[in-house]
Amino acid sequence: MLIAQISDVHVGGTRYRQDLLRTAIAEINAAGPDLIVVAGDLTDDGYPDQYPLAREELSALEAAHIVRVPGNHDARNVGYLHFEDTFGARDSRTRLECGGLQVALVAVDSTKPDLDEGEVGREHYGWIEEGFAGGSDLRVFVCHHHLMPIPGTGRERNQVRDAGDVLALLRRCEVDLVLAGHRHVPYVWPVAGMLLVHSGTVSTLRTRGFPHPAYNLIQVDAGRISIELRIPGGEGQSLGDYPRDWPEELSARQADPFVRAQRGVSLADDS
Ligand SMILES: [Fe+2]
Ligand SMILES: [Fe+2]
Repeated sequence: MLIAQISDVHVGGTRYRQDLLRTAIAEINAAGPDLIVVAGDLTDDGYPDQYPLAREELSALEAAHIVRVPGNHDARNVGYLHFEDTFGARDSRTRLECGGLQVALVAVDSTKPDLDEGEVGREHYGWIEEGFAGGSDLRVFVCHHHLMPIPGTGRERNQVRDAGDVLALLRRCEVDLVLAGHRHVPYVWPVAGMLLVHSGTVSTLRTRGFPHPAYNLIQVDAGRISIELRIPGGEGQSLGDYPRDWPEELSARQADPFVRAQRGVSLADDS
């Protein structure tokens, strides 16, 4: 199974480059992913004139399954409403058959209007847990903000405010992959049975420690997950090749004494 992860498109921004986006999309389509995740910041300010442009450009993406969440830039200026009008629900729970794998995918809007900080929010926890309940071969969680600090981004800021509780929740849900963006630096943190995979900015020159625009290709095989960052029109670089199954004592999924998620909460469309 192949997943393409892009984020931080920033359509309408001063350092947005349409040619980079089009190159990346052509490369992604040529790679033939089963699933494409667009992990937020599709627009630069959430303005109503930026959403149609973002939709038009991103409509060129080709995959059986495409999942999008808003980023902090999309939620500016009441842009979260334009996001809904343009792309649909901001939160989604999906079961997919991908490359022979049963995939449980939960995607959450981690933004707050006009704030750069993120928060998943405890009202989401039960809903997230239900999305991962039952059998599946691969569990994928998507949100825009990062759950762990990212090196090479300057001073740490805007990490999800309830990151500790969310990490513990996702660990208990046996999540395999957490796909996020936001800091414009591609990076992978292996944490307690999960790979926290961050994509860079696909189509802007708003780069930080990693000085190129980038997106990720994630290959999930029977026993391994390998992650490669790709520079649109340029080279690739491995972000690691990891075992899918962690030793039980390292994932320590049952070791958390705190997390209690409230079940039976309805928040958004399920498909
Ligand atoms: Fe961004
Ligand atoms: Fe962001």
